[in-house]
Amino acid sequence: MSNYTLTVNGQTCPVEAASDTPLLWVLRDHLNLVGTKYGCGVGQCGACTVHLNGVPTRSCLTPVSTVGRMQVTTIEGLAPDGSHPLQKAWCELDVAQCGYCQAGQIMTAAALLTHNPQPSDKDIDDAMAGNLCRCATYLRIRQGIHHAAGLAPTKKEAAQ
Ligand code: FES
Ligand code: FES
Repeated sequence: MSNYTLTVNGQTCPVEAASDTPLLWVLRDHLNLVGTKYGCGVGQCGACTVHLNGVPTRSCLTPVSTVGRMQVTTIEGLAPDGSHPLQKAWCELDVAQCGYCQAGQIMTAAALLTHNPQPSDKDIDDAMAGNLCRCATYLRIRQGIHHAAGLAPTKKEAAQ
């Protein structure tokens, strides 16, 4: 066991863990930040996506010993009051079905919008390709990202 001091959602978080413990388990089991989900555990689904210094990262493949001073942001820290444009868009357009993959989807989408505030369909598809959804909400995810970017029609318009 080793001691680490992580910065998670702007908070300093002392953690005692084995060096190879995935960040995912530190977030969920040590810090009770359970919004970040375990899907595959091998970097293939994106359910565990968090930001490290703003870069979307698979927390299931990130040993805690490699995090160092990087800023960790989870879905809980994206906008604690739920006011991030993606969170608003997700609610307004009812993007989620079961919801299991959606924290990872939103974290990947948030990084996309940071670097590309008005992404095309192709930009979105390229950025989101590594985030799987067993409920196949891909079209609503794309619509939600456009909506958050201020480009999409309203829910009522989209239904017409
Ligand atoms: S749980 Fe990390 S990519 Fe699937
Ligand atoms: S909403 Fe169910 S897995 Fe994506």
